[in-house]
Amino acid sequence: MQKEIFEQPVAIERTLAGRISDKHVLTHAFGTAAESIFREVGAIQIVACGSSYYTGLVAKYWFEEYAGVPCQVEIASELRYRKTVVLPKTLLVTISQSGETADTLAALRDAKDENYIASLCLCNVPNSSLVRESDLSLMLEAGTEICVASTKAFTNQLVDLLLLVGAIGQYNELDDAGHRELVEALKNLPDVVQETLKLDEEICHIAEKFVDKHHALFLGRGSHYPIALEGALKLKEISYIHAEGYPAGELKHGPLALVDDDMPVVAVAPGDELIEKLKSNLEEVRARGAELFVFADEHVTMADAEGVTVLRVPACSPLISPIVYTIPVQLLAYHVAVYKGTDVDQPRNLAKSVTVE
Ligand code: M6R
Repeated sequence: MQKEIFEQPVAIERTLAGRISDKHVLTHAFGTAAESIFREVGAIQIVACGSSYYTGLVAKYWFEEYAGVPCQVEIASELRYRKTVVLPKTLLVTISQSGETADTLAALRDAKDENYIASLCLCNVPNSSLVRESDLSLMLEAGTEICVASTKAFTNQLVDLLLLVGAIGQYNELDDAGHRELVEALKNLPDVVQETLKLDEEICHIAEKFVDKHHALFLGRGSHYPIALEGALKLKEISYIHAEGYPAGELKHGPLALVDDDMPVVAVAPGDELIEKLKSNLEEVRARGAELFVFADEHVTMADAEGVTVLRVPACSPLISPIVYTIPVQLLAYHVAVYKGTDVDQPRNLAKSVTVE
């Protein structure tokens, strides 16, 4: 897992190679038929499982904010067993590292009877069932991912979803300046991720404080809420500590009752337009005695204090920020698991590829 975490700058470079020009995402990277399909797309339906589903949740924020295209995201094992109403001109997007996840594949197969405009998969395995059975595909180019807990495939899924936002957005609400900004942010991403990996030692230090805990809470807002979900999943998956990811605005609606001095709280807190709201949520948990670990950039006016540790993540474009904030939550889970002595790469009860229901 450690190797795969540290490969991310190179893996991101690989998935960007040949897919962007100076100013644009190159639509043909998605296949020769992509341009005529993308011009027609009026809505997106994303379907996936686990971490791949969380990347879809981030993409919903991106599609609606930057491209002006409505986007729904659903867990494959739910979508496949219910009657759905598909909006006209909806593109079905499946996301999967393995391309063999039984529920995602079944959702794609069932979709053939629905009136989707086409199906597109983002996948890491070129000859997988998902790739073979989709109309369009884009390889993640993460390189083989061996650890059960997804890391470099997760960040490359996000990168490729951002490419898709550019490719579809240009025929919708993404203007030339916005498109250029997106491409520029993606070009900077490998360097920003490389810089973020330097947090490793500091994170290793705070990880020690989680070792004797039974629960942890991860909070975020907006497009960083799914990163809180991912942080919680990573921690539970490899360290066996029960962790929950929550949109911070939901605290008062239940989870605050759980918070005490035995519940560490991790905040994904970039200095965006939601930071003041998040800070007041954090004050509420601190007031209940929880120790806070805050990942924030230099624009966030929070300092270390009794029970509060602020770890500085490099400032970056809000477009790529959810990708950048994934790095510290991965490192945290990794170091906690190492301290606990669990089998980081092959956690109990889990398989890398979930080919059965
Ligand atoms: O191969 P897939 O991306 O379709 O797998 C989906 C999930 O099984 C996977 O993301 C799982 O949640 C990981 N173990 C998360 O680290």
